[in-house]
Amino acid sequence: MFAFFNKKDPADMDDVQLDTNRIPAHIAVIMDGNGRWAKSRHLPRIAGHKEGMNTVKKITIAASDLGVKVLTLYAFSTENWKRPTDEVNYLMQLPVSFFDTFVPDLIKNNVQVQVMGYVDKLPAATQTAVNNAIEETKDCDGMVLNFALNYGSRAEIVTGVQKIAQQVADGQLTVDEIDDTTVDAALMTASLAPYSDPDLLIRTSGEERISNFLMWQIAYSELVFTDVKWPDFTAATLKACIADYQSRDRRFGGIADNK
Ligand code: IPE
Ligand code: IPE
Ligand code: MG
Repeated sequence: MFAFFNKKDPADMDDVQLDTNRIPAHIAVIMDGNGRWAKSRHLPRIAGHKEGMNTVKKITIAASDLGVKVLTLYAFSTENWKRPTDEVNYLMQLPVSFFDTFVPDLIKNNVQVQVMGYVDKLPAATQTAVNNAIEETKDCDGMVLNFALNYGSRAEIVTGVQKIAQQVADGQLTVDEIDDTTVDAALMTASLAPYSDPDLLIRTSGEERISNFLMWQIAYSELVFTDVKWPDFTAATLKACIADYQSRDRRFGGIADNK
């Protein structure tokens, strides 16, 4: 009874068997709940962000081991500047610690780092850490670990529209030639092609909203929400989310194969 109101949390599935032929190529994650994780332990919010960084390391390796092609992680939004300065400063320093300790493991696992967002607005030390990691992993041709840093979907779309308008103004493109491909190419996920669009979008911590993430790209993504807070997210939670994804019937506006 009341099953309709009690949608099962994917993370409650245990002992999941995954179909290795249907691993989502691009998984995007809205890593949420660090602050509440810390608060529930009577710790400062930044303790949650620190633990969240350890989760990023574990999930990167787990996703790479599963054969995921692109893992996009929402690390800092264009709206997160509204937070207290101390918290923002801590979040800006996190990529420095992350890459300082983790680049050798990324290389060992053949993982290539990419970053999307307004990186030029980040503090100099953060930019240096990010650019070094991109450079150090540029020859890795396994999974792409794509961080969304100072990223916002509306800003991305505005920038993309400006680029396209400029091409029209310069006579490189006519208005009639603008199509899906033109828009795809103008967005920050263009370099991820052919995996620009996430197959699976996961949001942790029980919030069920998009918060300005990849709004064009998730048009046909499967959305999975779990109550698990990001610092508690494990390889097993990831597998459970993928199992939920594999139980879905992706129709893209058509009809199911077996109907
Ligand atoms: C996600 O955790 C990390 C960032 C948004 C940078 P939060 O910091 O949003 O954690 P809650 O939502 O306050 O618990
Ligand atoms: C979204 O989480 C941004 C990141 C995970 C980086 P928020 O915690 O900022 O989103 P809202 O404010 O709850 O929508
Ligand atoms: Mg949050």
